[in-house]
Amino acid sequence: MKKIIFQKAENNFTMIIFGASGSLAKLKLFPSIYQLAAESRLPADYKIIGYGRSQISNEDFREFFKKSVIEKTERVDLEKLDELLKNIFYVSGQYNEEKDFRKLRSTVEQVEKTKNRIRIAYFSVPPSAFTEIFQNLAAVNFNSIKAKLRLVIEKPFGYDFKSAKKLAQTLKKHFSQEQIYLLDHYLGKESVTNLLSLRYANSILTTLLNREYVSNIQISALESKDIEGRANYFDNVGILRDMVQSHLLQILAYLTMFMPRERTAEAIHHEKAQVLKSIRVNSLVRGQYIGYNKEVSTDSKTETYAAIKLALKHPLWKGVPIYLRSGKSLVEQWTAIVFEFKPRKAQRDDGTLPPNRIVIQLQPYEKIEFHLLTKLGGKTFDFHELTTGRPIYCSGDCLNEHGRLLLDVIAGKNDLFLNFEEIFAAWKVIDPLQKLSTKMKKKDLHLYKKGSKGPKASDELLAKDGFKWFYSLPNA
Ligand SMILES: NC(=O)c1ccc[n+]([C@@H]2O[C@H](COP(=O)([O-])OP(=O)(O)OC[C@H]3O[C@@H](n4cnc5c(N)ncnc54)[C@H](OP(=O)(O)O)[C@@H]3O)[C@@H](O)[C@H]2O)c1
Repeated sequence: MKKIIFQKAENNFTMIIFGASGSLAKLKLFPSIYQLAAESRLPADYKIIGYGRSQISNEDFREFFKKSVIEKTERVDLEKLDELLKNIFYVSGQYNEEKDFRKLRSTVEQVEKTKNRIRIAYFSVPPSAFTEIFQNLAAVNFNSIKAKLRLVIEKPFGYDFKSAKKLAQTLKKHFSQEQIYLLDHYLGKESVTNLLSLRYANSILTTLLNREYVSNIQISALESKDIEGRANYFDNVGILRDMVQSHLLQILAYLTMFMPRERTAEAIHHEKAQVLKSIRVNSLVRGQYIGYNKEVSTDSKTETYAAIKLALKHPLWKGVPIYLRSGKSLVEQWTAIVFEFKPRKAQRDDGTLPPNRIVIQLQPYEKIEFHLLTKLGGKTFDFHELTTGRPIYCSGDCLNEHGRLLLDVIAGKNDLFLNFEEIFAAWKVIDPLQKLSTKMKKKDLHLYKKGSKGPKASDELLAKDGFKWFYSLPNA
């Protein structure tokens, strides 16, 4: 058995969290930082500095941090948590005031014990505040070579191609490419990074997963939850931008890209971008759950459900229809990838037998299933489906998504992050669909009941090609 290497932060660091009073910080960042500390993965000298307009003292911020960790963590080691809190500080200030950034810089310099370290600016604020922060970080010289500043920006990267381009240009004015970490938290999930490894390590998959054998691919991210009171955010975004633009297109890229010989960040980014650039969308179904308009208090046309049929120009996948769907308030909650296989020639006229499938479930549990056909007992030549599957448990160096991605930022590794080439290509897929959406008549927005399977038009999208959405409830 190979010795397991547990990833640890080797560099001393200071991390400034802009918008530290908000929901991303509370729900994701603080619990992840605690996990890293509890597992002794942090270096001797690290400091976390929250920054925001809210007037909060160091003590109150530590209390807020502690509460957030306790709420989200099953078993907390209070001694380790209290030790961690000694490294946590808060500075209040505006995002558009250079003098406040001077105050921030002076606090940073006061609390840092060692000079040889990296600094991280984590953007946990809405995108509207980004530019002012970039400018002020540069103005107070946080961006000197010596300070080795790295910026972490979470998706969404802009609102469309044009705004993503603007974001890239603004960043470029002040920072170099190596300093920028564009984070889609899906890529920090073990289940998602495992997709590349599964393809790499299993000749069964490498051999079968291509246009020769696969009849269609389905990627589904189904949610039973509604918009949970996030009306302002969701109504401006919709499911296409929220789920498809980054999460689902990134999964698609991992599944279909050429495996680069060297698994370097550059090679992976390049291959993913080639897939994204080769996407041609054929059809779109937009849906909205009944009652949504009441929740957002407008006569909104925003989609809470989308199903897309697309094709890739990519040589491995040319001619294979690919279906993506994501929606809210559905009867089921899971994320999975389904490869359906073409029937053998001898079977083709039958039409009654279900296809062979490989199903890779990513959420809520990771598992892989093979759907085969086996003989029914008796003298007839009849079959039934045999599903053989296993959970995929993470064993070895397992970490939650933000924990893994933070360690990568500290180590300067960006293979699990995006680059702007991929982001632009993804927006070029989504922008025409958004344009189409604004022109669509209300009747083209398919209404569906809460707790249902989504709009019927989504089933018809596949039925036209002789396919059906795969349904199976996850089990632990
Ligand atoms: N929440 C998530 O799970 C999640 C998931 C993926 C990506 N993201 C991205 O992560 C970032 C932060 O998300 P979030 O959900 O934490 O946001 P949030 O809770 O709405 O805001 C975070 C903090 O930013 C400050 N803020 C709020 N509105 C602002 C405005 N208009 N201008 C300047 N500052 C403002 C507030 O702090 P002060 O008032 O103290 O300054 C607030 O506590 C966003 O870019 C979001 O798109 C979030």
